[in-house]
Amino acid sequence: MSAEPVNETEIGLRRLGLGDLPAVEAVERRSYRTPWSRTMFQGEITRPGSRCYGAFDGKTLVGYLIVSKYTDAWHIMNVAVDEPYRRRGVARLMLETLLRETSEDGTRGHTLEVRVSNHGAIRLYEELGFRPSGMRRGYYTDDREDALVMWRGEGPGDEPLVR
Ligand SMILES: CC(C)(COP(=O)(O)OP(=O)(O)OC[C@H]1O[C@@H](n2cnc3c(N)ncnc32)[C@H](O)[C@@H]1OP(=O)(O)O)[C@@H](O)C(=O)NCCC(=O)NCCS
Repeated sequence: MSAEPVNETEIGLRRLGLGDLPAVEAVERRSYRTPWSRTMFQGEITRPGSRCYGAFDGKTLVGYLIVSKYTDAWHIMNVAVDEPYRRRGVARLMLETLLRETSEDGTRGHTLEVRVSNHGAIRLYEELGFRPSGMRRGYYTDDREDALVMWRGEGPGDEPLVR
């Protein structure tokens, strides 16, 4: 049975604030084997230039997108959608909003790292115009899985951003 797609009247987006941290942390813990700490989210939410969006079903946080502004790129640091809300277009909605709101910035492309085994996420990014540009061997510290580096728009091509 396929889930109903979302639209902006059902799921609302707004910028995250520090008051959202407990809800973000709960979704994060359900979404990742090695979740970010609350301090990491706090650092991103308060960092000047960051774009941190939350997707809400009423007052319930169902997903988030954390993006840092670097000299040469918008770096997608974290994106997750709570399991019952997946495959309904929530991540696509958040990413399309980011791309639209940063489209005036002709000097920065968009980049991210993703586990090579995360085929669903890679498909999502490819549908939004991201292209593979390199590999970081053993990038993930828990199991040494490789990260695929992806870029969209302006960027160093196969010289991916080093943080
Ligand atoms: C990856 C993730 C954020 C996707 O969120 P989502 O809201 O379910 O994604 P969307 O519904 O917007 O997906 C849009 C498209 O991306 C692709 N896609 C997304 N998840 C997929 C999956 N599990 N398998 C195959 N394709 C997938 C599909 O093409 C999908 O379109 P369709 O449903 O019409 O086929 C979500 O699965 C998640 O939170 N996973 C755990 C955390 C994670 O891996 N984050 C990414 C780290 S880089």
